[in-house]
Amino acid sequence: MADTANNDAFVAFERVQKSYDGETLVVKDLNLSMPKGEFLTMLGPSGSGKTTCLMMLAGFETATHGEIKLNGRQINNIPPHKRGIGMVFQNYALFPHMTVAENLSFPLEVRKIGKADREAKVKRALDMVQMGDFGGRRPAQLSGGQQQRIALARALVFEPELVLMDEPLGALDKQLREHMQFEITNLAHELGITTVYVTHDQTEALTMSDRVAVFDDGRIQQLAPPDELYESPENSFVAQFIGENNTLEGTVKEIEGERCVVELDDGELIDAKPVNVSQPGERTTISIRPERVEVDTAKLGENAHTLNAEVLEFIYMGDVFRTRLRVAGRDDFIIKTRNSADQRRLKPGEKIKIGWLPRDCRALDSV
Ligand SMILES: Nc1ncnc2c1ncn2[C@@H]1O[C@H](COP(=O)(O)OP(=O)(O)O)[C@@H](O)[C@H]1O
Ligand SMILES: [Mg+2]
Repeated sequence: MADTANNDAFVAFERVQKSYDGETLVVKDLNLSMPKGEFLTMLGPSGSGKTTCLMMLAGFETATHGEIKLNGRQINNIPPHKRGIGMVFQNYALFPHMTVAENLSFPLEVRKIGKADREAKVKRALDMVQMGDFGGRRPAQLSGGQQQRIALARALVFEPELVLMDEPLGALDKQLREHMQFEITNLAHELGITTVYVTHDQTEALTMSDRVAVFDDGRIQQLAPPDELYESPENSFVAQFIGENNTLEGTVKEIEGERCVVELDDGELIDAKPVNVSQPGERTTISIRPERVEVDTAKLGENAHTLNAEVLEFIYMGDVFRTRLRVAGRDDFIIKTRNSADQRRLKPGEKIKIGWLPRDCRALDSV
């Protein structure tokens, strides 16, 4: 099965390792295969190896070990101009002495495309990013967002099969960033381009991608579609890194099928779904999303365990209420409730009970 998948892959990393100094591995064991047309994001903290992976795929760095394949061929055997890779980086590096149109024409000239053809392609690429009227300007005469759109157009103008983007929106303000996120994903899907996108911004990763590879310490911690990543993190790192998350430490007391009982460090019992635990006595970190905590414990099942909580802070956020609680000796437990007509506003000092469905609370590796 795995072999078949790899043969069909458009991009494949197979047991890839990378060391810059011959000692420390900054990429430890990377396995990844992408079908054609996929939009995949590498997400992770700074220094986790994302740019290094992109550079190896682009051919600017070589892997210390393992293979990287593009369309079934090892990347080293393909000369750079035949790789058909478009690239966009954070500092978009347009040529300052050239006009916008000349910037876009350049990759076509390099590929020996004739003048008439070049002009048609440049026009189309500019229209695509809604910059058709700006061909005659120089980069310095454009705003940051406009420059970024030109950088995007330049990466797409020669119709690459694969586009690599390394934090391309990092320098933009929030509103423009959100607009560009939408524009990039739309373009990539419309043109059927395979995209590897790098970011350290989890919202960007979740909203843009078909799949997200969460990086930490030179390894992919989890590779999954956004909803799966958010709802079913496979380990504590991913649970903490993606979205807001509450954690509590404890020991597995009972375990049976899809449910386990965890004894928290203050002695209270709570229900969870066993993910990284297999027997009683194991230490675990349980992980529960703020929106899955139930304050109306009557809504839970007959035998559900509940916890005592004290309200510390109530924050009105308009569409939701965000309430901070003291739970099992921790002061940072957050719950989110929808601002619906019948929703109670909790008051600081109030003592309440909370609970959850076992399937919403994951017993993960102890950190
Ligand atoms: N050219 C280089 N020479 C030596 N070390 C490097 C080089 N580029 C990156 N590194 C190191 O490799 C690790 C991974 O870096 P990088 O791939 O840039 O991570 P990310 O893009 O996830 O922030 C870091 O510890 C970084 O310091
Ligand atoms: Mg980087």
